[in-house]
Amino acid sequence: MAYINGKWRQGLHLEPPQGWLNDPNGLCWFGGYYHVYFQYAPDNADGSGKKCWGHYRSPDMLKWEFTGTVLFPDTPDDRDGVYSGSAVVCGDVLHIFYTGNVKEEGDHDYITSGRGANVIHVTTADGVTMIAKKTVLRNSDYPDFCSCHVRDPKVWFENGVWRMVLGARTLDNKGCVLFYSSGDLENWKYDGTLSTDNFGYMWECPDLLDFDGHKYLSVSPQGLEHGDTKFQNVYQSGYFRYDSGLTDFTEWDMGFDFYAPQTFVTPDGRRIIISWMGIGDIPYTNPTVPLGYQHCLTLPREITVASDGALLQNPVKELLSLRGEKTIVKDGESAEMLLPFDLTANVTGSFEITQCGALVMRWDGHIFELRFTDEKLGGGRTVRKAALNKCSDIRVIADKSSVEIYLDGGRTVLSSRMYPESDKVSLSVKGLNAELFALREMEVSYLGE
Ligand code: FRU
Repeated sequence: MAYINGKWRQGLHLEPPQGWLNDPNGLCWFGGYYHVYFQYAPDNADGSGKKCWGHYRSPDMLKWEFTGTVLFPDTPDDRDGVYSGSAVVCGDVLHIFYTGNVKEEGDHDYITSGRGANVIHVTTADGVTMIAKKTVLRNSDYPDFCSCHVRDPKVWFENGVWRMVLGARTLDNKGCVLFYSSGDLENWKYDGTLSTDNFGYMWECPDLLDFDGHKYLSVSPQGLEHGDTKFQNVYQSGYFRYDSGLTDFTEWDMGFDFYAPQTFVTPDGRRIIISWMGIGDIPYTNPTVPLGYQHCLTLPREITVASDGALLQNPVKELLSLRGEKTIVKDGESAEMLLPFDLTANVTGSFEITQCGALVMRWDGHIFELRFTDEKLGGGRTVRKAALNKCSDIRVIADKSSVEIYLDGGRTVLSSRMYPESDKVSLSVKGLNAELFALREMEVSYLGE
């Protein structure tokens, strides 16, 4: 099978050539390329097929090559899925750690019994050919308070030691992370756990972020109670401040489609976050499924720290080079634009931007609202709200089937899929003057299956 064409194919977001995509995995810079691995089920657009790792690489985050499926569930320790994980560079070798998922036959709940969650280590010299899977941790190595759900190793190097964080569910249904350390990437020692009260039953895809000694723990918790302007999706993703304990959880993204992000550091020291622009178990739909593929990743976003310690996200600066012709749309005016485009505007008070006549982005001075007024355009998505008492600017990157909205310098971000009938869309603005840039598409080539 090969690349499936379709009218909603994105111009700026990485998608699976066919089948299903979920979490980004193994993000790194190695051997002259950015590497973006991802959870890939090539056989089926609904995610039910064999879970593998697909692989994209790029010298500049603009020209991408899909090299194919690089990790398959082909050993007893990962036979039911090559689940999420991460990559670290040591010398000339890329070391990958992922969760090998195993489901035993029999009468099991697959939470307290019947599931194996192995941390598997593989190496690669070129990012594509994987050598020697070796299990370095299995369920018997995790603390006794853990259920069978322990997964998504993220590894990094800190003060001369390799460290690993894993997401977990305890036997009394509490989400937490487990820390391990190693001197040689083979032997791992348990260093402790971290959690906070009343914060969901499972934490997936943990990541530890360090900005000059200021630490943050990113996790994707499941089981949080939904609110009007928070935790609106089925599952969440966000970051805690991590000083002596965990405080102040902030959601990374307030839109409909964002889960299981991962970060990495570029050679010039920028911390970049990339997420799945999707979530499992959603009540809305993506009409690319009948075409044979589903989901994409977010744009790579640079994370910076605001003076109050909040984390800001903005599209990587590389994307500016894709900007073409500029159009000004003044307060009260409308325009027709070809997707993809990049809108920026200063905000001085309440405003409303409407795309395709049915995607309304509105700020009233207190709440920012992203609302679909047409069921088809949003695939059943309705409204998402973010509490925002101050907003100095907005940037919208609209692709062929998504929007990413960056507010107030990237302090609040909302991502959503959307499915316009045509690449030529209407845009009207009230309460601000917008600059709109046409965007060239990224170059993506497909070298493998
Ligand atoms: C998050 C997740 C991870 C797991 C992977 C399986 O979306 O559930 O915890 O490793 O997806 O595809």
